[in-house]
Amino acid sequence: MSVFLAYTLYIMDKYLVFGNPIKQSRSPDIHRQFADNTGQELEYSRQLSQVSEFKSDVKKFFAEGGKGANVTAPFKEQALLLSDELTDRAKLAEAVNTLSFNNGKIYGDNTDGIGLVQDLLRHSVPLKNSKILILGAGGAAKGVILPILEQAPAKVVIANRTVSKADKICEQFEVFSENKLKACGFDELNNESFDVIINATSASLTGQFPSIAQSNITSQTVCYDMVYGAQLSPFLLWAKQQGAAQVIDGLGMLVGQAAESFTIWRKVKPNIESVLKILRAEMAAEI
Ligand code: ATR
Repeated sequence: MSVFLAYTLYIMDKYLVFGNPIKQSRSPDIHRQFADNTGQELEYSRQLSQVSEFKSDVKKFFAEGGKGANVTAPFKEQALLLSDELTDRAKLAEAVNTLSFNNGKIYGDNTDGIGLVQDLLRHSVPLKNSKILILGAGGAAKGVILPILEQAPAKVVIANRTVSKADKICEQFEVFSENKLKACGFDELNNESFDVIINATSASLTGQFPSIAQSNITSQTVCYDMVYGAQLSPFLLWAKQQGAAQVIDGLGMLVGQAAESFTIWRKVKPNIESVLKILRAEMAAEI
């Protein structure tokens, strides 16, 4: 290695993503493309951590000069607890996916929700005055409620297999919801149709999908799944068969949340489209 290259690597700002597992993470690829496209000099890697070691791993990374980190499962709640300062959206989501280190302090933010909203808007899905159904009431759902409410929808229904969890989210967000937020079980949706349905359950990971009724979807409904892949998820496949107007997977949300993190760290907004195009091609080639 030349002295110049060694010096450049040494002084480059360092970022990484913590998770367990982490091998599958596309974040390093995405952030390297953002860096290339915006002419930023930085290094972005992935780090496997253990539940008992996550906090010390983060502190060590920042003590050694790390500038920022993304946090994925299962560490988003731990990242919230170790942050010195939190944004409102991270507090409400009760999860942090973006850590920044400045003047000896750790700052925690959550860019997942804004990543989803921007992806929907990028697909020209109107959210203002829309009736939106969110399926699931786990961490993924909670992270997107505030950014969705900020788009002034007509109504947001959170439906979950375990209704008490959806009820709890409604209570937590009541002050922001102007009575637009409702909770129920899947079977209580009856024949109500929605403009947008977002699958925030983890059901796809086991090849399942939440059992909502065909009548909840019309030819005007846009269906979104937070998971992504070269093939449609079970929910999107089913939604398409029911005649949904549009089905969209979560790849744009992934790139969108990364773009927000990048902007927080580097104060430069990267282009999402070009990165998405490359990722789609890579995913298709992996089949
Ligand atoms: P995440 O962080 O991905 O949101 P989580 O907090 O464990 O993960 O939440 C998983 C969500 O997916 C929950 O809403 C869960 O429903 P329950 O609260 O009833 O457990 C939902 N989920 C998982 N598998 C499901 C399935 N097969 N059908 C419907 N909902 C499912």
